[in-house]
Amino acid sequence: MTYFKTHNFSVLFFVFLILFLASVSAWKKDEFRNCNQTPFCSRARSRKPNSCSLIAVDVSIFDGDLVGKLVPKNTPPKGEQNPDSNGDDSDHGSQDPASNPLLLRISAYQDGILRLKIDEDPSLNPPKRRFELPSVIVPEFLEKKLWLQRFSEEKIDGDSGFSSLVVVYLGNGYEAVLRKDPFEVFVREKNGGKRVISLNSHGLFDFEQLRVKKEGDNWEENFRGHTDTRPYGPQSISFDVSFHGADYVYGIPEHATSLALKPTRGPEIDFSEPYRLFNLDVFEYLHESPFGLYGSIPFMLSHGKEHGTTGFFWLNAAEMQIDVLGAGWDAGESRLSLPSDQKRIDTLWMGEAGVIDAFFFVGPGPKDVVRQYVSVTGMPAMPQLFATAYHQCRWNYRDEEDVYHVDSKFDEHDIPYDVLWLDIEHTDGKKYFTWDRVLFPNPEEMQNKLAAKGRRMVTIVDPHIKRDDSYYIHKEASDKGHYVKDASGKDYDGWCWPGSSSYLDMLSPEVREWWADKFSYKNYVGSTSSLYIWNDMNEPSVFNGPEVTMPRDALHIGGVEHREIHNAYGYYFHMGTASGLEKRGEGKDRPFVLSRAFFAGSQRYGAIWTGDNTAEWEHLRVSVPMVLSMGLTGIIFSGADVGGFFGNPEPELLVRWYQLGAYYPFFRAHAHHDTKRREPWLFGERNTALMRDAIHNRYMLLPYFYTLFREANTTGVPVMRPLWMEFPADEAAFNNDEAFMVGNSILVQGVYSERAKHASVYLPGGQSWYDMRSGTAYKGGMTHKLEVSEESVPAFQKAGTIIPRKDRYRRSSTQMVHDPYTLVIALNSSQSAEGELYVDDGKSFEFQRGAFIHRRFIFSNGKLTSLNVAPVGNDGRLFTSDCVIERIILLGYPSRPKGALIEASNKEVEMEMGPLRPKGSGAASVLTIRKPNVRISDDWSIRIL
Ligand code: NOJ
Repeated sequence: MTYFKTHNFSVLFFVFLILFLASVSAWKKDEFRNCNQTPFCSRARSRKPNSCSLIAVDVSIFDGDLVGKLVPKNTPPKGEQNPDSNGDDSDHGSQDPASNPLLLRISAYQDGILRLKIDEDPSLNPPKRRFELPSVIVPEFLEKKLWLQRFSEEKIDGDSGFSSLVVVYLGNGYEAVLRKDPFEVFVREKNGGKRVISLNSHGLFDFEQLRVKKEGDNWEENFRGHTDTRPYGPQSISFDVSFHGADYVYGIPEHATSLALKPTRGPEIDFSEPYRLFNLDVFEYLHESPFGLYGSIPFMLSHGKEHGTTGFFWLNAAEMQIDVLGAGWDAGESRLSLPSDQKRIDTLWMGEAGVIDAFFFVGPGPKDVVRQYVSVTGMPAMPQLFATAYHQCRWNYRDEEDVYHVDSKFDEHDIPYDVLWLDIEHTDGKKYFTWDRVLFPNPEEMQNKLAAKGRRMVTIVDPHIKRDDSYYIHKEASDKGHYVKDASGKDYDGWCWPGSSSYLDMLSPEVREWWADKFSYKNYVGSTSSLYIWNDMNEPSVFNGPEVTMPRDALHIGGVEHREIHNAYGYYFHMGTASGLEKRGEGKDRPFVLSRAFFAGSQRYGAIWTGDNTAEWEHLRVSVPMVLSMGLTGIIFSGADVGGFFGNPEPELLVRWYQLGAYYPFFRAHAHHDTKRREPWLFGERNTALMRDAIHNRYMLLPYFYTLFREANTTGVPVMRPLWMEFPADEAAFNNDEAFMVGNSILVQGVYSERAKHASVYLPGGQSWYDMRSGTAYKGGMTHKLEVSEESVPAFQKAGTIIPRKDRYRRSSTQMVHDPYTLVIALNSSQSAEGELYVDDGKSFEFQRGAFIHRRFIFSNGKLTSLNVAPVGNDGRLFTSDCVIERIILLGYPSRPKGALIEASNKEVEMEMGPLRPKGSGAASVLTIRKPNVRISDDWSIRIL
């Protein structure tokens, strides 16, 4: 077993390690709790439909919100047991006759967003305030609140008494409805009243209120020798959410599974765990499992032909388990009766602690839902240009000589790369911010040498701090009380790479501020302005903790239990690091921080990768739905370790991984220290050529990628998209996660098996698609069985689009800045096409003040026009570029025209046949306008003659 290195450790740690390692050799499901071993989960799962007896009373408008109370309709007589409980009645809060009314608040926000909050009433002195997660919702969102003035009340036919609906107008043609008895919240279309999304339609709602511990109460939980003291007892929440008119549900990363989430319960399912959201360092994770991995985003989207797309987000960072309920799961027990032709997907959400703070997004399109979601959790950060290029990583590049060697080999083999990464071994004894001075005696010089070629470096900085009194970070952190505490109030001490370690309390803004300062050039000795950061192990990973993480009863600032913030710990750590880099650069250098753990909102702080995958074809396959699922939930900058972290990929797998990975938003090769070296030149000339070509492909498309990152930065729409995001009405696309879109113009089909000769490629929509290597046109709306070559994975440009490229190969993206552009115009059946180009300085925050070029290229009626789409006032004074367009390629033009006229200068240029790709195998087969030399910053038009 190879995951850990043992040198320099104390004997004690060594003994521990042997024991630990003996128990781990591949994914060990016994290491982790399943739903049955998790009382709140098994309780919630065993509840029957309609067991919620709550009704809404005292409904009124207060402070612009609809407020009310939830009370039990029929309080059960004292001592009566809940017939649905699993026998553990002591743990069942909601059946406590002393249940207090819960407070309910419904707010409406612009753009058709409904927010529902349910909490205990603080004025009734609960034993503790339930935790609400700070700094996830962006302040701008709160300004979008619509101040509700009134509600209307509708009687339900045939009902009496409480049975009425309270209705408020949500905007955009939707209404929010609170049904009083039984309690239910839903959104419906104003016209026609069709339901869109609803909560508690099946009566599975349960809210365990905090109680004062009575004699005899035993709230402890034990798992594999770890005791969770659970001083506040049961406090879980569960409820059902129904997505009406939905064919599939998606989202709730991070799981290694299909994009369209398979049902976990229902008549046709033998047994499945629910989808778990609990950030964990899972060793050798499986490629198909509902098990929770490193990050958690409790945001689910639904999509279907009937309604389009909707979304549901539960802002809560405690452990969550989510069931997708297959049709017929309730076997007629549910009270929700709908016309049989209306499709619906029901889900059950179960959380260990916290409050209900939930958001309903009405869409109706997929891009609307992601926009609505990021309006709550924040726009994705705009990366620097270098970060969108290729990254070379390995655990570990041993020393400076190794770094120089790898760096020079890239040049020798004419392969571009932008960033070289250093893993944990570069430090002095896993003390972050230090260098092993034997291996890395001159870190500044090393970084500067690479920077001279336009390259950057990244070092790893993890959240576990070595408990070593001579280590300044530890000294300061312990003196200042910056560590998370254990249940007894002492600094929590767990094991990680350095041995005995403590963990910074990143929930505290003061600790984050202090941490951020550690990244200044003065404090981080040996760092330079070309050094960026990698945050790993921030779930947090604790080798000797329960489920390899921190105990749930550990304590954060304000007495917050770790169980309440667990899934957001890595998020706060990422936040602190990104703010450190922003401070370091005095606000002039966009941070680059890669994080393994993530939560809702992580898109504001940097990139995420899918952790320790394996060099197997099935891991290559699952990387696509994993990255797509992150993209749908805000994390638009993500990728998987190219080549697979564990194991040694066959050259063919490695090549295929490069070919696919070149389309991941985050494109990085990485490998475990026990794997054989696998830099692209180590597998013979042919394979080197193939990998070089894949990497070149990415560099060629950088202008297109960068434009997409900007789109994501302003709208939340991901760079890498499921087909149904671009073709929402095409049912054949809803469940396809072997192919994906990069932006709206490129469709990529992965090749996921050895020696594949053919691939079935479904090309959606009514327009044609052009093979990006040969220019051959294929009909849309059908599946093609295509020959697959070893040269590339199939990729197509959609007819009707224009892609900007840079075709000159350099050592790094920095060196391409002044290079001219190529435009590839793929004409649709009406002989038109459109595309965009966004350019800024690739580095600073000046783009936020308008320092950028944003053009739209439109081809119609035989004329190509470049229009400024930057906001009014951006007249090019803040940022300009001398770059010109050196080539325009026309695909699908019906004849061979004699030339083209550049209208402003009245200059005529020739049309000729040229190659589609700069060094492609293809002959000179596509119509090309060479050297039109119009500037990308100008307005111009070119007419085909
Ligand atoms: C675990 C990470 O997932 C992996 O990428 C890294 O190489 C090791 N930790 C060592 O830092």
